[in-house]
Amino acid sequence: MTRCVVVGGGAREHALAWGLSRHAEVVVTPGNAGIAAHGIACTPTPAVELDADLVVIGPEQPLVEGLADELRARGVAVVGPGAAGARLEGSKAYLKEFLVAAGVPTAAHGTFHDLASAAAHLRASAPPYVIKTDGLAAGKGVLVTDDLAVALDDARAKLSGSAFGAAGSTVVIEEGLLGEECSLHFLCAGGRARLLAPAQDFKRVGDGDRGPNTGGMGAYAPMTSLSADQLSEVRELMIEPTLAELARRGIDYRGVLYAGVMLTARGVRLLEYNVRFGDPEAEVLVPTIGADLLELLGDVARGHVTSDPVPVTRHAVTVVLAAHGYPGAPRADDTIAGLGEDGQLAQPLDDVVVFHAGTRRRADGSFVTAGGRVLAVSASGATLDEARRRAYAGADAISFSGKVSRRDIAARTAS
Ligand code: AMP
Ligand code: GLY
Repeated sequence: MTRCVVVGGGAREHALAWGLSRHAEVVVTPGNAGIAAHGIACTPTPAVELDADLVVIGPEQPLVEGLADELRARGVAVVGPGAAGARLEGSKAYLKEFLVAAGVPTAAHGTFHDLASAAAHLRASAPPYVIKTDGLAAGKGVLVTDDLAVALDDARAKLSGSAFGAAGSTVVIEEGLLGEECSLHFLCAGGRARLLAPAQDFKRVGDGDRGPNTGGMGAYAPMTSLSADQLSEVRELMIEPTLAELARRGIDYRGVLYAGVMLTARGVRLLEYNVRFGDPEAEVLVPTIGADLLELLGDVARGHVTSDPVPVTRHAVTVVLAAHGYPGAPRADDTIAGLGEDGQLAQPLDDVVVFHAGTRRRADGSFVTAGGRVLAVSASGATLDEARRRAYAGADAISFSGKVSRRDIAARTAS
């Protein structure tokens, strides 16, 4: 049997490991308490020391640090770009330079290292103001505001290093775009890209897209409101030029390329590239894939994918349950009720699976909160409405003190 190693320890890695475990022997490093309870092996041993036919790297940090290069140098098949490709996500300033070179439509921007020029730029711009830390910030390094004073304060905090340390010492200030957002994941290798189900992530903490940005409070897929024309625009204006620019730079990109796209009145605009599966998008993509995940990812690692979209056979919705205080300082050690020994619903529901993001297990076997995002409750169904009802039935069956979640995941599109 194929031996597969998944790197990471969140709900995304739980979903990937769960999907792969149907066809492979899976080990997750480091994994988490909920993945282990679900019967999937977890180990603190680093990926480079594990024996594997295929390694799937979940989070951006090890990709940016060059883990894929290190594994490939040892002859291991890997899903995930090397450090050169991962810069697309690792540096917003590099990304913008790349997009301009490739001719990909994106928000106009300026890159700043000092407050005086950043402030002058903000004062001369119209709202909404968009300020991004250059480096990795776990999805929380972006401020979008209509208030100039708030924007100036944010630029000051980021550039002084007090908000994100060195990751914030360069900021990118962008033209504010308006429109619907979507998460388009492509399996890339050999200069080709295969689209997975278009997904939508809910980034703000509160219902109606209010409150601060988070890592993601829920998602659904497929996003059927996206037209065929919009999808071909994304392929022609974004993906094809990006693959060509990667080739021009000598980057052999083998991994997931996740395009964060805004559908504006003036056409599609790229907000960002991520070089891995989204979280919580992976928690809805894995259940919608109508193909063998091991084969799909194995093809990526071996460098040959086709250009046809991956078949989508189900609808899926995931609802994130976060800890009290999220996305600020999350509270740990709140006891979670509603989960059984295996970390799944104590009263199982059809087609519902609970992916663990930030949980810990006490000696008595109970689960407690141990992170910002705690659980992602995913459900699939023949329709979006069915998936949504199941996901909320699952989410409502789990409780802990201070539980933060949104009620409106996939609400506008489900009937
Ligand atoms: P990013 O990490 O670059 O995708 O930014 C995180 C979130 O901030 C995005 O999902 C958008 O909701 C928002 N955002 C980023 N860039 C812009 C922009 N230029 N205009 C409006 N909203 C943006
Ligand atoms: N869901 C957003 C991300 O993974 O970056």
